[in-house]
Amino acid sequence: MHQMINKILQHQCYVNGQWIGESIDPVSNPATGKEIAKIPHLGAHETRQAIEAASSALQIWKKILPKERSGILRKWFDLQIEHRDELAHLVTLEQGKPLAEARAEVTYGASFVEFYAEEAKRINGDVLPAHRADGRNFVLKQPIGVVGAITPWNFPHAMITRKVAPALAAGCTVVCKPAPDTPLTALALAHLAQQAGFPDGVFNVITGDAQAIGEELTSNPLVRMIAFTGSTAVGKLLMGQCAQTVKRVALELGGNAPFIIFDDADMDKAINAVVASKFRNAGQTCVCANRIFVHDKIYDEFAQLLSVTVENFSVGEGLDANVNIGPLINTKALEKVEHHVENATQKGASILTGGARHDLSGNFYQPTVLSGVTTDMQLAKEETFGPVAGLFRFSSEDDVVAEANNTTSGLAAYVCTENISRIWRMAEDLEYGIVSVNEGVFSNELAPFGGMKESGLGREGSHYGIEEFLELKFVFLGGLS
Ligand code: SIN
Repeated sequence: MHQMINKILQHQCYVNGQWIGESIDPVSNPATGKEIAKIPHLGAHETRQAIEAASSALQIWKKILPKERSGILRKWFDLQIEHRDELAHLVTLEQGKPLAEARAEVTYGASFVEFYAEEAKRINGDVLPAHRADGRNFVLKQPIGVVGAITPWNFPHAMITRKVAPALAAGCTVVCKPAPDTPLTALALAHLAQQAGFPDGVFNVITGDAQAIGEELTSNPLVRMIAFTGSTAVGKLLMGQCAQTVKRVALELGGNAPFIIFDDADMDKAINAVVASKFRNAGQTCVCANRIFVHDKIYDEFAQLLSVTVENFSVGEGLDANVNIGPLINTKALEKVEHHVENATQKGASILTGGARHDLSGNFYQPTVLSGVTTDMQLAKEETFGPVAGLFRFSSEDDVVAEANNTTSGLAAYVCTENISRIWRMAEDLEYGIVSVNEGVFSNELAPFGGMKESGLGREGSHYGIEEFLELKFVFLGGLS
């Protein structure tokens, strides 16, 4: 089984171009509980070393001509594509998602590296109108400095490249702390970065004591920015820690996505979109539909069709080609899903399919559809992060928009309707960073991904994404005759 990943599997951390640390912490497969590899347990001391290395490397990297930076990033992209199957295999082994989804993730993740390799050559400054005859106003765009990238377990590849590629393209250097559940893809990316020819210290990956590493990254004055994807609770904590040294923060935090299906929706499109949005990665994405609002007139038909589709899912280990729903990442995730379903049924929801742990045991939960879900249930208040589709009933457009916006989150919202005027009303009125119409999967490197309210700060992807890593400097040239 491991032959497939042998070429890219790493057992040490990557700091200043060296592989360091004793391999002691086991990383296990969430589908089987079996150990895949051991990795180092590093802490504040090694994180400080990595930050200092990144700070020295910054002086070289930011001065390298954009075309050369671009070329190294392009090489990193080519290597990721060359090793796509191995990377996908590794993602499935440590994260659990089906292999087809893991392949799609690697393609998606690599697309950020390709895109920002190109953008490295397009960081343009500005010449502004003069405010006096003897002077001129210029704007330079410069890298913000050393970036701490703290990344989640649900997309072990793409959530690294979506931050690290624009940071490196901008001329920043990076210390990355991957999630403890899924560090192996990050180390494999470091291995490919080494082959691509990044100078030592430009990209570093540290694993181990999450709290100690996080505290060093957020308190060390050499780090000028923290880019984080993860829960809102941890995002708030990091933001507070960063305040002491006034670091910039880019935060991709939790969502509680509404998915609104109007009575004029195309039923097939709506079912496909809900399935794609809700059940991708076994419901473990920040943009998964969490509250599915179905118009009263089509509610029963929709509920029945969705249940039949979900009943036919094949649950199991992601390496099995027939499987389309993998395990949850760990016991804590499983318990949360279980709690949400119990809470909903106690408060009056009914189970149309699923509703319990899967016979496969371990971290598997049955794909579930609940009907009669209401706003007083836990499922309505926070993201479930599991394969549970909760159906709410509505009859008025105004009411459903108010209910959809009635949350502290604002990452992604979905609408199914064939009415163009309504599409525009929804696009304008939903208080979300992303509104997806008649489609359940929208993420791509060309468009900005990010949230409003407590779902975060800043955007990743697209030409907007690189701006997060740049400082604007105003240069005034005076004394002209
Ligand atoms: C996420 O769950 O944070 C990322 C999902 C995506 O990129 O589509």
